[in-house]
Amino acid sequence: MTTTPDLQTLSDFLDSQRPHVAELDQGLDQVLTAVLAASRQISYDLQQGALAGILGSADTDNVQGEVQKKLDIIANDSLIDALKRCEPVAGMASEENDDCIANNPAGRYLVLFDPLDGSSNIDVNMSVGTIFSILPVTQTPVTKESFFQPGSRQIAAGYVLYGPATLLVLTLGNGVNVFTLDRDQGEFYLTASQLQIPADTQEFAINMSNQRHWEAPVQRYISECLAGKTGERGKDFNMRWVASMVGDVHRILSRGGIFMYPYDLKDPKKAGRLRLMYEANPMSFLIEQAGGQATTGRQRILDVQPNDLHQRIPVMLGSAVEVRLVTSYHG
Ligand code: AHG
Ligand code: MN
Ligand code: MN
Repeated sequence: MTTTPDLQTLSDFLDSQRPHVAELDQGLDQVLTAVLAASRQISYDLQQGALAGILGSADTDNVQGEVQKKLDIIANDSLIDALKRCEPVAGMASEENDDCIANNPAGRYLVLFDPLDGSSNIDVNMSVGTIFSILPVTQTPVTKESFFQPGSRQIAAGYVLYGPATLLVLTLGNGVNVFTLDRDQGEFYLTASQLQIPADTQEFAINMSNQRHWEAPVQRYISECLAGKTGERGKDFNMRWVASMVGDVHRILSRGGIFMYPYDLKDPKKAGRLRLMYEANPMSFLIEQAGGQATTGRQRILDVQPNDLHQRIPVMLGSAVEVRLVTSYHG
């Protein structure tokens, strides 16, 4: 039995936002509803796990040369099916598809997504997520180039975190709100409003196994954190790494912290590990909307002009004081 009678549903929340967000009257809510219909299905698939025979590798590679898991493909298909049926969607682009997919030529929105983020966590029953970014159509007909808008143009962005609870974390450009899925009713309820990331933190998230490959500014920042109370920073730091950006960003939105996936020299041709358009941009929008900062170390992420659907970028985001400090080290 569920006990959520006096919480606001997502659709009531969206109605309450209509006076403040003009796009909601132009079908943005239908786009969100489509993304969430797919997410509900993904949440159910993940819950079934081995019982549904959907764990493990699909033995195929995506455009980035990464081996796809069965659930990467299932989640991608769910999102594409739902968005294709959604009239306001003019086109979509996914981590798992080389090219963009055109939809309704009269649609107003472009949707980019990482259908399953942190997919190395699937087979060990740890948290994963779906990340999405919604851009306006600014030119027709829609081509790949139509998607190449800086993150500052996003109309909405968010993620669904499939953890012990399934959560939607959403921004429409006026703050960040959290909704929890009631699995019995299939309804998302508002459970936290207007998140604010503390400016100060004593927690960092980075894959330490890459340390020897980092550039000097990141080496300096992390070694000062590791030096703790008796070092330059005069305080001890804690470290966390979920191996799913959705999980790490959710912790930072909940209690502060800094997340970094910097450029490294392991493969100098790669600009970074994470992808600008469906990982860095939506997460940076959420982080800024909650009072945090997001940079590449050298530039605000939301100002970067994209030139490829799958381009990679260094990412440093979270508590403002720490992001400012590591960015200042990049000179
Ligand atoms: P994806 O599963 O969509 O390819 O993304 C995984 C990303 C990100 O979620 C996470 O922060 C990072 O890769 C983990 O990288 P490591 O394997 O270096 O830990
Ligand atoms: Mn990802
Ligand atoms: Mn993914």
